[in-house]
Amino acid sequence: MKTIQYMGSKQSLLPFIEAAIDHFVASMSNADLGLIKTKPKSFFDAFAGSGRVSYYFRDHYRIISNDKLSFSKVILSAYLNNPYAPSHYKKYIRHLNNLNRDFFESCDGWFSQTYGGEWNEGRSEDENGVKKVWLKKNARRIDMMRHQIALWQQSGEISDSEEAVLLLSLILAVNKVSNVVGHQNGYLKRWCIAAQRDIHLEVPQLEKRSQSKHKHLTGDIFEQLPNIKADLAYFDPPYGTNNKNLVVATRYSSFYHLWHTLVTNDRPQTFGKASKPVHTKGYTEPLERNKRAVVMPKFIRLIEEVRAPIVAFSYSNKGLLTAKDFEAIYRWAGCDMTSFRVYMTEHRANKQSQIAKKSGQWIDRANAQAPLREYLIIACKNPQRFASKARFTPKKAKGDIEKFPKLNAWLKQDENYSLPNSTWLFNPEDQSFAQLIK
Ligand SMILES: C[S@@+](CC[C@H](N)C(=O)[O-])C[C@H]1O[C@@H](n2cnc3c(N)ncnc32)[C@H](O)[C@@H]1O
Repeated sequence: MKTIQYMGSKQSLLPFIEAAIDHFVASMSNADLGLIKTKPKSFFDAFAGSGRVSYYFRDHYRIISNDKLSFSKVILSAYLNNPYAPSHYKKYIRHLNNLNRDFFESCDGWFSQTYGGEWNEGRSEDENGVKKVWLKKNARRIDMMRHQIALWQQSGEISDSEEAVLLLSLILAVNKVSNVVGHQNGYLKRWCIAAQRDIHLEVPQLEKRSQSKHKHLTGDIFEQLPNIKADLAYFDPPYGTNNKNLVVATRYSSFYHLWHTLVTNDRPQTFGKASKPVHTKGYTEPLERNKRAVVMPKFIRLIEEVRAPIVAFSYSNKGLLTAKDFEAIYRWAGCDMTSFRVYMTEHRANKQSQIAKKSGQWIDRANAQAPLREYLIIACKNPQRFASKARFTPKKAKGDIEKFPKLNAWLKQDENYSLPNSTWLFNPEDQSFAQLIK
């Protein structure tokens, strides 16, 4: 699967996640599995991002994916719901690659005006110090390609799934000529070699799926939850960090705004030296904030409100919350704590941690010396609670979980880095697990 480079992508953890879920399900009796009584058949990937997790599990489960950023749905619709052979797209891709310059006159040129820059002796800044992402020659082609896809879509020439494939092709091609390193929070000062190349679309490596059962959504998770039903809900939220010296949150809307705007094709008002859409300015949404008092209640809500009998989270020991925090979250959210488990694997440090380490920001971290460990935290919801749809948190805290006294008391204590009793360590050699503490 060719997809986007993405912060927090689970690419290298997929076999671990699969093994952990399988181990959990195999170790539960049918009665323990609560409402579903059999192996889970549907999988809700609630923070799907690059789509790697949903793609990996596409033949194991019926997938329902969601992310607040619109490119996630495009990527997954293209890979999981495309009804045609790849050859079907050749004529469209050829047409897009060969659009005549005159066609530019029919576009509004928004991408070129906003993100296109002159060669300027190799400097990507314009006269006002605003850095540009694409050389004008590519920006103009991006305008034309995006406009042509919109025209086909509006005239009914292409369906939603065909549009998704063409947009995926555009995103992948754009990535090869963008003047960025990884994310799109800022751009390089000088035009890099890749940005100097000519943009060229290719047909993505697709699978033909005539009758796909998979479904993909775009939206804020709390708005989506009431409409979703699945056997297993998988949450891979932003992790934050427990490094007190790193105050910057990973604001996905800001980090990946170009792909989002390419897909929505709206014309957001922009601001600053990177011309980011104003909706990415200032505001950090609760799940991306680096505050336990903000994030913990939201995670309780996620579990309480999701209509899935099994709930799993990906997280790491360098994230904002500890495994013990999760144990409390699952308890307060009404899970059957006899089923609660933390599966754990050791993993190489991510980019953010490596940079932090280099610049000495590592020091103020309570568990600084511990190796990076990735978790898959999982439990069944309490069947009675699940059936009654009642909330588990006290009545007074309804709708305002921040007023939950147990949680407030918990937050006053220091972070507890010990591991919950039911922690299982992964052996990647033979994909087995051993219980760490009995
Ligand atoms: C750690 S990343 C997920 C990575 C993904 N599992 C992958 O492998 O690429 C977290 C994701 O949560 C999404 N997100 C953050 N807040 C959200 C919200 N309130 N509703 C829906 N999605 C949200 C971000 O856009 C981001 O894609």
